[in-house]
Amino acid sequence: MKTLGIETSCDETAVALYDSASGIISETVYSQIDLHKKYGGVVPELASRDHCEKIIDVFNEGIGGVDIHKVDRIAYTAGPGLLGALIVGESFAQGLAFALDKPLIPVNHLEAHFLSPFLDFPEIQYPFTSLLISGGHSLIVDVKDFEDYEIIGQSLDDAVGEAFDKVGKLLQLPYPGGPHIEEAAKNGDPVKYDFPRPMKNSDDLNLSFSGLKTAVLYATKDLDISEERSNISASFQEAVIDVLSTKIKKAMKQTGNKSLVMAGGVAANKKIRAALDMLEEKEGFKVFYPSIKHCTDNAAMIAYLGSLKTESKNIYNSNVRARWPVSEI
Ligand code: KG4
Ligand code: ZN
Repeated sequence: MKTLGIETSCDETAVALYDSASGIISETVYSQIDLHKKYGGVVPELASRDHCEKIIDVFNEGIGGVDIHKVDRIAYTAGPGLLGALIVGESFAQGLAFALDKPLIPVNHLEAHFLSPFLDFPEIQYPFTSLLISGGHSLIVDVKDFEDYEIIGQSLDDAVGEAFDKVGKLLQLPYPGGPHIEEAAKNGDPVKYDFPRPMKNSDDLNLSFSGLKTAVLYATKDLDISEERSNISASFQEAVIDVLSTKIKKAMKQTGNKSLVMAGGVAANKKIRAALDMLEEKEGFKVFYPSIKHCTDNAAMIAYLGSLKTESKNIYNSNVRARWPVSEI
């Protein structure tokens, strides 16, 4: 069975084709990063307009030369995400499904992230713990089984990637700040600044990063940023790693799960990976790092999840929602 996946929840326009028997046939992602760069963050209205402009070209590439009539079902991200951006993907998916008389499957973007590791590691077994750290989300999830997810920890304010991006802005680095902070930190002293580790020792698995960002703001006041950029980057990154490692250690103990899976753009950070690898050795669980293209927003995970879902009714009503807690799946 061939499932087409369409993703437009934020600033990536993506289309992929997944075959239940042979896996991913083709996948394409168009990133709007250059469009939003000068604003220092994603501008929702510009995102929607650009999805409209690009979706046909992305679809033509993402279907990988396969005859559209050979596609069995059409899956798309219905939420959570930017409403205007989601509507573009939904309208396109509805148009295709109507014209071809194929089933239409609205899917939850976060659920797709939780299950994306199966694209790269079909051998993974339930249950596992997922650490989803991106620009929009910071979640620790107990993935017990298909459609059985428990969010056991989440950020109470900024997402991890958002904190990287805001600190990047303070350090006059280009958007998105994450990869630039990682690069700058290579030449810095991770203990020069004693930044706070918010909620590190709280009893729960929740996270908080806005206090850390504010601490960086105060540290950069009256400072020659160009001289201290590396040290601040390294010290900030160290604080994030310290909190994440502590919470993951706790989460693995609490769930008893034997596997940890990383997802989200921040999972590209090599220092964070090295810290989790150390935990893997010490604590005896296995860490899986899906390929970066499946960690960040993509349509392969949407097509894959769409292939597992049962067909829904009332498909031509709008299903998009900016908020869609996984507890409501
Ligand atoms: O999953 P993603 O591509 O998109 C959404 O959040 O929608 O994640 C992007 C986030 C940005 O905040 C970016 O700064 C962060 O991932 N990021 C990183 C690194 N690469 C990307 N953060 C820290 N270190 C990195 N190497
Ligand atoms: Zn995402």
